Amino acid sequence: MKPLVNKIVCIGAGYVGGPTMAVIADRCPDIDVTVLDLNEARIAAWNSEELPIYEPGLAAVVSRARGRNLRFVGQTEGAAHVAAADAVFISVNTPTKTDGEGAGKASDLRYVESCARFIAAHATGHTIVIEKSTMPVRAADRIKSILASAGPGVTFDILSNPEFLAEGTAIRDLEAPDRVLIGGERPEPIQALAEIYRRWVPAERVLSTGLWSAELSKLVANAFLAQRVSSINSISALCEVTGADVEEVASVVGTDSRIGPKFLRASVGFGGSCFQKDLLSLIYISESYGLTEVAAYWQQVVDLNQWQKHRFADQIAAPIATAEGSLRDRRIAILGFAFKKDTNDVRETPAIDVCRRLLARGATLAVHDYKVTPDSIASEIGTQGVEVATSPEAALAGADGVAVLTEWSAYAKLDWARLAGILKAGAIIHDGRNIVDATAIRRSGLGLRSIGKGERHVR
Ligand SMILES: NC(=O)c1ccc[n+]([C@@H]2O[C@H](COP(=O)([O-])OP(=O)(O)OC[C@H]3O[C@@H](n4cnc5c(N)ncnc54)[C@H](O)[C@@H]3O)[C@@H](O)[C@H]2O)c1
Repeated sequence: MKPLVNKIVCIGAGYVGGPTMAVIADRCPDIDVTVLDLNEARIAAWNSEELPIYEPGLAAVVSRARGRNLRFVGQTEGAAHVAAADAVFISVNTPTKTDGEGAGKASDLRYVESCARFIAAHATGHTIVIEKSTMPVRAADRIKSILASAGPGVTFDILSNPEFLAEGTAIRDLEAPDRVLIGGERPEPIQALAEIYRRWVPAERVLSTGLWSAELSKLVANAFLAQRVSSINSISALCEVTGADVEEVASVVGTDSRIGPKFLRASVGFGGSCFQKDLLSLIYISESYGLTEVAAYWQQVVDLNQWQKHRFADQIAAPIATAEGSLRDRRIAILGFAFKKDTNDVRETPAIDVCRRLLARGATLAVHDYKVTPDSIASEIGTQGVEVATSPEAALAGADGVAVLTEWSAYAKLDWARLAGILKAGAIIHDGRNIVDATAIRRSGLGLRSIGKGERHVR
């Protein structure tokens, strides 16, 4: 039987749209996949050897499919592809609103709505419109009302197919997902999309639900993940004052099969474009339905994360600040700026808050990261008092204190016996990810403060 979906368009060539469509094209060589974006520079990068995002394994997948059944185009060229498409994914950004009703909490659906208008203007015949972006529950109602403006004879089905990939492991997550979720109102379009994923995902992992459950499940999944981070981070503070070790506590707690061992690593805090935004969206939705206690419960996950970042920055400052609390003439090495390893993404990275707090007290920062560009660093924390270092050694030279903010594997292998000589005497390494070689650091005579480990670990 001829598959129902032969031609796909994805609007939005970002961290989700690009990798997701590359994997679909790779796994389904007979399906024609077009990714379109209004950002022409991003499209040019997708068509070059310097892809706009860094993800392990992405370049190989793109190079297999691009020019065969995968293409990246600008918006003008994209219109004809939408007209011919059987299915159009919406994979644009849904950031927190910065103005108007719900500012600071609600998701900004203006990019989604403009996609819906674009689809309504160009679609022909019947098209399946698929929400790939993370949306507030009942967002499909808004998309439907815009699509209703399409011309006579143009019809749509709407599906919610939220993406669960994690940056840094996007290709692995797309090729072997824990589950694929498809929410819809009629079985036929759900089946049509499920058929695509079943080409490489075991059938029992392709789940289907109602539209509203699918939209809400994505927000709830991210809220639960963020909640685990804030839970263990709250315990990290308690460990520090009691002399307990958060890694020991987490490993004991995680052996309970009802709790499980994953996502129990204490850290400087969670970051990335999704956790905070999706928590705030959940909080706003709860508030708008009058569920004040529900909103307050999830707000605490956000607040704890903010507190953890500030607490970490203040611990760096405490031993080196002047009596007045100033960090003037103090140089602090920042190892890692990305919000996690194996990505160049700096959206909501904890490094932003930590660095800004130190800069506000007059510190000079020497920032190193393996994948983040100097421009990205400058766009988040400016250039005043900020030096971008091209190696960990260059960042560490002459530093009064060190903050490890990203868990890049190479930072775990730093040779502290050699590096101790280039740091200022008495410098303390503040490990925000608990990855450095603690024994080597102590043996080299340097101080170490690890998240969630009591005073006994500080020289
Ligand atoms: N980044 C993640 O790890 C991740 C994981 C799961 C889900 N999500 C969700 O996926 C969605 C996309 O996230 P992302 O990280 O890929 O965002 P992104 O900012 O990297 O990419 C979005 C792209 O959409 C483009 N765009 C915006 N409006 C457009 C329009 N009208 N027409 C054409 N292009 C348009 C932008 O230019 C941008 O390139 C968000 O809702 C996010 O919450 C993200």
